[in-house]
Amino acid sequence: MKAFKHPEFTNKTELYRYMNTRLVGLLSSEFDWLANLCNATALMNELLTEINWVGFYLKNGEKELILGPFQGKPACVHLSYGKGVCGTAAETESVQLVPDVHAYPGHVACDPDSRSEIVLPIIVAGQVVAVLDIDSPILNRFDEEDQQGLEKVVKTLCQYIAWNQVKKQ
Ligand code: SME
Repeated sequence: MKAFKHPEFTNKTELYRYMNTRLVGLLSSEFDWLANLCNATALMNELLTEINWVGFYLKNGEKELILGPFQGKPACVHLSYGKGVCGTAAETESVQLVPDVHAYPGHVACDPDSRSEIVLPIIVAGQVVAVLDIDSPILNRFDEEDQQGLEKVVKTLCQYIAWNQVKKQ
């Protein structure tokens, strides 16, 4: 993996701790869910190396996700539950850590540059409200440490985003 973007980080634990602190700072002073999700994607895009897409898909009706705030190339708008990496994360309510997207059955290729991916479900009051999706142009970009760091990010998002205001649900 390339050097961290901030020279003061020597490992992922420090990186994600810093990300979480910045995120709390951004979200705790604002109540608007859309503005907050936009800033969350901008922060992750600023801090993570070797990614080509980071964003949210929001629950849209019973069995569908719809594109939310993101950074990266234009992406697929509608994703079905149970299909692809995002749809599987939403349906199974479990993190999908994908070292090689070409080896993932049903992977939906929005950006042909993507080689690996991590998707985390965002679950509030027992219901999936969205997923956080991050793509990388290199194989095997994400590991257990990324997963653990991002799970803390998701916890912060659960706490500070006004999910009950997101109309799509
Ligand atoms: N690859 C995802 C689709 C979303 S894009 O990566 C932005 C999937 O298989 O669900």
